[in-house]
Amino acid sequence: MSVRIETIGSAILYQADALDVLPLLRERSFVGLITDPPYSSGGAFKGDRSAPTSSKYQSSENRGIYPEFQGDTRDQHSYLAWLTLWLSRARCLVVPGALGCVFTDWRQLPTTTDALQAAGWVWRGIVPWDKTERGRPQQGRYRAQAEYIVWGTDGARPLQGPTAPGVLRLPVPRQKHHIAGKPVALMEGLMIPMDTGPILDPFMGSGTVGLACQAQGRPYVGIEVDATYFEIACRRLQEGLNGASSGAAAG
Ligand SMILES: C[S@@+](CC[C@H](N)C(=O)[O-])C[C@H]1O[C@@H](n2cnc3c(N)ncnc32)[C@H](O)[C@@H]1O
Repeated sequence: MSVRIETIGSAILYQADALDVLPLLRERSFVGLITDPPYSSGGAFKGDRSAPTSSKYQSSENRGIYPEFQGDTRDQHSYLAWLTLWLSRARCLVVPGALGCVFTDWRQLPTTTDALQAAGWVWRGIVPWDKTERGRPQQGRYRAQAEYIVWGTDGARPLQGPTAPGVLRLPVPRQKHHIAGKPVALMEGLMIPMDTGPILDPFMGSGTVGLACQAQGRPYVGIEVDATYFEIACRRLQEGLNGASSGAAAG
């Protein structure tokens, strides 16, 4: 197994399969998990799922802008097994009572809530991400306007500390860095109730959670299997660090 490791400010980035890296990390060392795994969605049949990620998640005029990403071809059974596997490992890495947030879409919502619980987390709720009226319109149907953050805790969590919004309303960034790129402010919203300390993100893509951590001065550990997206995440975090040290706002 080869693992590339980059340290950028207080972020440590691993380029490898998350299942290979998670056992190498120190147990009980993270205050929270925020991650956006590949949904293995975008189709009901095997043939649909094995299609390129751009054709599953992008309108035809946007195809080819971003590199394809990995790990998005599992069927329902194997997706449940895989989510359960890494969510179990991730749970060993967070402090007792820590919050865990996992992104999903409407198709994989039931599987994700099952997996979270199968992995030993206490499922506490769902935070809808309202993508605003910029979400994809569907004539004669409802606008594709939301994704979801399934959240839970590792055991009991005291009712104290800041309250975060139960719905986060933010448009998809006009300039994305990943097919499935999310807004940095969305990740910052998810961090509101989290204690001070490092955040774990086993599926970092272009490093959006890392940028939110950087903006808040939090340590971050991100893992990405794909070399191209790993490079993009390194570049964004390095640019953020350079911007911060030269007094400019991090992007
Ligand atoms: C939905 S994307 C994350 C996008 C991210 N939220 C952003 O804003 O850029 C999921 C990422 O997980 C990566 N991935 C897939 N399987 C993986 C694995 N086994 N270990 C680590 N990363 C993996 C994919 O290459 C992809 O970049």
